This record gives sequence, C-alpha cells and structure tokens, in this order.
Amino acid sequence: MSSDSVTVVLAAGASTRMKSSRSKLLHEVLGRPIVHWALDQALWAAEKVVFVVGHQREDVMAALEPALATTTIRFAVQSEQKGTGHAVQCALSEIDDLLPTGGNVFIMGGDAFLLQHQTLENFRRAHLSSKAALSLMTYNLAFPGAYGRIIRNADGMIESIVEAKDASSEQLAIKEVNAGFYFVRSDILKAALASLSNSNKAQEFYLTDLVSFCRKQGHFVTTFEIPFEEGLGINTQKELSEVAHVLRRRVNAWWMAQGVSMIDPSSIWVDADVQLSADVVLEPGVILKGKTRIHPRVRVGAYSVIEGAELYEDVVIQPFCHLKDSVVGAESDLGPYARLRPGSVLDRKVHIGNFVEVKKSHLKEGVKAGHLSYLGDSDIGRGTNIGAGTITCNYDGIAKHQTNIGEDVFIGSNTSLVAPIKIGSGAIIGAGSVLTKEVSSNAIAVERSDQREIPQGASRFRERRRKKD
Ligand code: UD1
Ligand code: CA
Repeated sequence: MSSDSVTVVLAAGASTRMKSSRSKLLHEVLGRPIVHWALDQALWAAEKVVFVVGHQREDVMAALEPALATTTIRFAVQSEQKGTGHAVQCALSEIDDLLPTGGNVFIMGGDAFLLQHQTLENFRRAHLSSKAALSLMTYNLAFPGAYGRIIRNADGMIESIVEAKDASSEQLAIKEVNAGFYFVRSDILKAALASLSNSNKAQEFYLTDLVSFCRKQGHFVTTFEIPFEEGLGINTQKELSEVAHVLRRRVNAWWMAQGVSMIDPSSIWVDADVQLSADVVLEPGVILKGKTRIHPRVRVGAYSVIEGAELYEDVVIQPFCHLKDSVVGAESDLGPYARLRPGSVLDRKVHIGNFVEVKKSHLKEGVKAGHLSYLGDSDIGRGTNIGAGTITCNYDGIAKHQTNIGEDVFIGSNTSLVAPIKIGSGAIIGAGSVLTKEVSSNAIAVERSDQREIPQGASRFRERRRKKD
C-alpha cells in the first residue's frame, strides 16, 4: 500500500439549515469564502484535492477558480444529494485516477475547517503509523445536539456511529461525537461504499456507516480526540458566527504576536488577507477588510472601517473614519469622521479633518482640508489649504469633470469650484466664491456681490415690528 494521499472535500449539500439562498460554502468568514478556508485545510492533509460539488456547483467552482493555477483540484459532481456516503461514491473515479496504486483518503466536510495544522499533522501520522484501515476524529460536547454519536463496546473499542436522527434516547445521551474528519485506506473505502444502504431516518447513504462496515470485516479503526473548538462546523447562521469568532481570535492573537497593539481584540475584525506591521495600534471596534495594508506605527481610531487601503508609516486615523481603495502617505492624519472613496491618493503629511469626503483625487504633500468639504476628481498641489465647506462641483448631471489646483493655493471657506476648472499656484480665493473660470497663478479671485450697509437699519426694523404687534 502506497502512502500517497488525496483529500476529498464534501461540498455538494444544499445548506438547508442556513436558510439562505446561497450555498454555505460561498458565505464569507474574515473576507474569504468558506470554500477557500476548506481548501487550505484540505491541502494540509494532501497535495491533491477532490471537491464533490452539486448544489450551486457553478458558483462554488467559480469561487475556487483563482486557486486552480497553483493547486491540483479535481471536481466530482453529485447531482442529487443522497448523503455523505453517496457524495464520496461520486468522487471514486477521481480518487482512483489520483491514487492509481492505492493510498489513503482524507475526507472532510466543506463546512468544517477549524483544525489547527499541527492537529491534522498528528492525526495523519497517527493514522499512518497505526496501520488502521480507518481513523476518525472525535470530540466531547456538553450538548452534542445533531452530531453523530460514537458507540463503543465494553472494551472501549469503537463499534459504530449513530446519527442523532436515528439514535435511541440512551444513545443521544452520549457526549462523544463524530467530528467528521476521516483518514481511510482507499481499497477499504471502496469496499465500504459499495456496501452502504440508505435504510435510516434520513434515507441517505451515510459515510459514517464506514465504521460498522470496518468493524464487521475485522479491520482496525482508531479514534483521535480533538479540542472542541477545532471540530466546529457550519450548519446554521449561528454556527457561521461562532466559527468567525474563533478565526477572529486566532488572527488577532497572531497579529499581536507580531507586535500589533489591540486595545480590545474582542471588538476588532481583521480580514485574512490584511497585512499589518509592528507598532500599529488598533483601537476598539476597528474593522480592516480586503487587501488592506498598514505600515509601521499607524494608529487606527475607534470604529473606523478600512477596506482595500494602504496606510504608510505614522499615519493617524482618528475615530469613525471610512476608507476604501485609497492610499494614505506617511505622517498624514484623517478624521474624526473622514471618508476616502476609491481612487484617493494622499501624499505625505496631508491633513483631512472632520466631515471631509475625498473621491478619485490626488492630494500632494502638506495639503490641508480641515472641515466639511467634498473633493472629487481633483488634483491638488503641495501645501494648498482648502477652506471649510469647499466643494468641487464635479458633476453636471451627465458627466464628471476635473478640478486642478496648483501649489500653495489658499481656497477660502464655502467656495464652489465648478469643474472643469484650473486654479493656478499661489492663488487666493475669497470665501463664498462660486468659480466657473480659470484663475491665474498668484491672482486673487473673488466672486461675491458687494456688501451693503444701512446705518441704524436694524433699530428701525425692530421699531416697525413693535408698532405692528
Ligand atoms: C455529518 C456526520 C455526523 C458528524 C458531522 C460533523 C454523516 C451522515 N454525518 O453530519 O456524524 O457528527 O458531520 O460535522 O456524515 N454533503 C454532500 N452531499 C450530500 C450530503 C452532504 O456533499 O449528499 C456535504 C455537505 O455539503 C457538508 C458535508 O457533506 O459540507 C457534511 O454534511 P452535513 O449535512 O453538514 O452533515 P452533518 O449533519 O453535519
Ligand atoms: Ca455539517
């Protein structure tokens, strides 16, 4: 018998208990679809992987598409979901193809992927060295719920697995359950699958009947106990959130070990593909998504959400900011309550204050926009100061237009820049202007009607009102 191995991932089920229109394998945990997490675990057990797909198989296969370039993944189709045993039957020809001289098959559900690498490695070694026909993982649960119960004989040897649906009340009281991870010799797997019947409550072909088959044939079956947390699977929305919490805890612990400070890790969510650095500080409630990358000594303020952004050294994000697909240069500071929309690039030492929205704009070194502004489709030169309430009017109802502002410009408060428009370097714009024409370098531009004053007008107005009443 060769020691070659293949992993079979069962991923054809209908996910009925999720009560969702999407297969549970497509739901995301820390920014990655469940199938990706399952694939990682599958590859730890064996380099070659067979996914059994059925329910929403086009979508499940499309989600795995990016991995096909670097890994050997075969798909086996189970068009009708007749149980976990039937699902493995559907993979037999692929297994034969990948293991021409026989070997061992690791079987897992696509919905349970919390095994630690070391646990799986220990299990694999234990299976191979024990020469068992079948090894399976078990764990103990205070409330064993819907899990398959482990039935042992008087000598403590495993005899069979009884699904909760088929169990007697005595069997339901058993706390040792089947975790759903198996290593099995391929020749014995084949013989066992051929013998399966669906005479049970669910009228399904249960993979778990492998155990009683092996025992009846006199084959050696071993069990391997794992910590409760590693066996958690996703059948319901509640379990999806529980699994997400476990992974969140692991990811946060890993980043803290790399020198990231988290003031309240139980409130912080960092997606699997985010990259952090030493001396980054994450305040409570921070959510980091997608391929966000954060360089050393950045501080991210409470309840900020950052998605697909890159933040360079020493950036300070004050609380309640929202950043998406943008770049923030070193030593810049944002917020509180600032928003960067896709395509925003801030060079070094840029200051963006409260209630400032930036979209698809390049703000060069030292630009300041402290309060209540919208800067869209714009290019703003070094050292320019954008006064409170400045708006780039970039949209005319049909198309978007560009605003170009030079270096060291001073834009007075409450200015509207009607794009397309250019403001030359060194210009000063008077507050309250609505500008529609280009402003030359070093000019002062004001668009504003002259101020009028009526001497004692206010007193006379009040006098008139009093007489009226
Ligand atoms: C299964 C085990 C149970 C174990 C539990 C651990 C069986 C009969 N029961 O129950 O003993 O305690 O896992 O998590 O195996 N699937 C298919 N095709 C099918 C049916 C299922 O591909 O026809 C896939 C599902 O998509 C899922 C996996 O197999 O990824 C497990 O199926 P599920 O229905 O979740 O089994 P459990 O009830 O959890
Ligand atoms: Ca399950």
